[in-house]
Amino acid sequence: MDIAKKAARYQRIIQQLNELMVKTNHLPSRMATINAVLHHKMDNFFWTGFYLLHDGKLLVGPYQGSLACQELTVNKGVCWAAVNQNKAIVVPNVHDFPGHIACDGRSQSEICVPVHDKTGNIIAILDIDSAQLNNFDEVDAQALTEIVKFLAI
Ligand code: SME
Repeated sequence: MDIAKKAARYQRIIQQLNELMVKTNHLPSRMATINAVLHHKMDNFFWTGFYLLHDGKLLVGPYQGSLACQELTVNKGVCWAAVNQNKAIVVPNVHDFPGHIACDGRSQSEICVPVHDKTGNIIAILDIDSAQLNNFDEVDAQALTEIVKFLAI
């Protein structure tokens, strides 16, 4: 998708989420709603979901897509890199990312975005996989960073 079209689509999604989020302050409900909107409105989102940081582990939370790994080996893969660097990580080709954890072999590119609570602590990672190479860029990183702020409650 071209960059301007993608940015405009994210703007519409953020507007829609703004209206949906006022209806619940419950974290899992907000996560599930964000997943459903992103997964069905963005092109080429093959797996869309959250890994929850719990007792020093990353455990799968609400998601849309095929069966995922339930727990991610500590300090390995893209999700843990996003935790450890506390920033969004765009991976154009997962095969080039050392330690990448493949829960589904069809995944080709990926983006991971840290989710913070209202005090600034990381509570989860928003993880999106695509079956297309090079599906994510800075537009996704910025928009998704904005979207996970709905979870700082
Ligand atoms: N690829 C991730 C693991 C989670 S799956 O993509 C759903 C990683 O390397 O951390």
